[in-house]
Amino acid sequence: MIKKCLFPAAGYGTRFLPATKAMPKEMLPILTKPLIQYGVEEAYDAGCDVMAVITGRGKRAITDHFDISYELEHQIQGSSKESLLTDIRTLIDNCTFTYTRQNEMKGLGDAIYKGKVLVGEADPFAVILADDLCFNPDGDGVLRQMIDLYNKYKCCVVAIMEVPKEDVHKYGVIAGREIEDSVFMVDNMVEKPDNDKAPSNLAIIGRYILTPDIFEVIKKTKPGKNGELQITDALLTQAKKGMVLGYKFKGNRFDCGSVEGFVEATNYFYDHEKKPKAIEEKK
Ligand code: UTP
Repeated sequence: MIKKCLFPAAGYGTRFLPATKAMPKEMLPILTKPLIQYGVEEAYDAGCDVMAVITGRGKRAITDHFDISYELEHQIQGSSKESLLTDIRTLIDNCTFTYTRQNEMKGLGDAIYKGKVLVGEADPFAVILADDLCFNPDGDGVLRQMIDLYNKYKCCVVAIMEVPKEDVHKYGVIAGREIEDSVFMVDNMVEKPDNDKAPSNLAIIGRYILTPDIFEVIKKTKPGKNGELQITDALLTQAKKGMVLGYKFKGNRFDCGSVEGFVEATNYFYDHEKKPKAIEEKK
């Protein structure tokens, strides 16, 4: 059973400056809900109840968000606005939130390594990058799909999607053999390759299932692209042992770490899913 989900959220979010000068990128809202809450809901729906967040300086709003706000809740008690807090209250009541800091931005691999103290070394765990907002309107969320796959194969799983060839340099990219529909046994992976040197156009997005032996592998992995400790490099060691699957998930993914993706997600959720209750009420 995968019960723990790690949320690396120590990044500076420089693409959203000045908005992210004093506010965490993960707290930027798509309509009325912060990005990280979408991620936590996806993990909760997939069966996780321990949410382990890797934070950094200036990220206190995340901790406050997943805590009870007595004055506010008292203030709106009995009013029509009370229901606006139902979802976040469900998460607070049913999940344990734990936090540790990544003091220096040394890369995603390093951020995940910092999570060892939170998720332990006994069980596999999930990783969600909250700035990749995933949503499946037709069924199970992306993390649940990946956990189902883990339960079948018992090895690391990375979520992948096809991207245009001119965009592969923005991602970790895999190569592998399709062993069943949408499932690839990974034999190579490269972080942010040059467009003409990429092994495929199958890009890794911000969802992972990792087995705890990854911590020992990260410890032995040298800094890679941009001098950062890359989780892609650590996973390559596992892939060479046939222990990593790439999974072409069902659903939509929005790159909310970029302004364009963020606007796209906002429009999508406004049109398709959740017109904010406050707006509906005013109509
Ligand atoms: P990004 O590189 O997309 O995020 O990292 P960023 O650095 O916050 O954004 P920009 O590029 O400056 O706008 C992907 C994810 O990995 C986390 C980030 O928080 C983000 O969720 N991350 C990355 C860490 O937690 N620590 C790191 O050292 C690097």
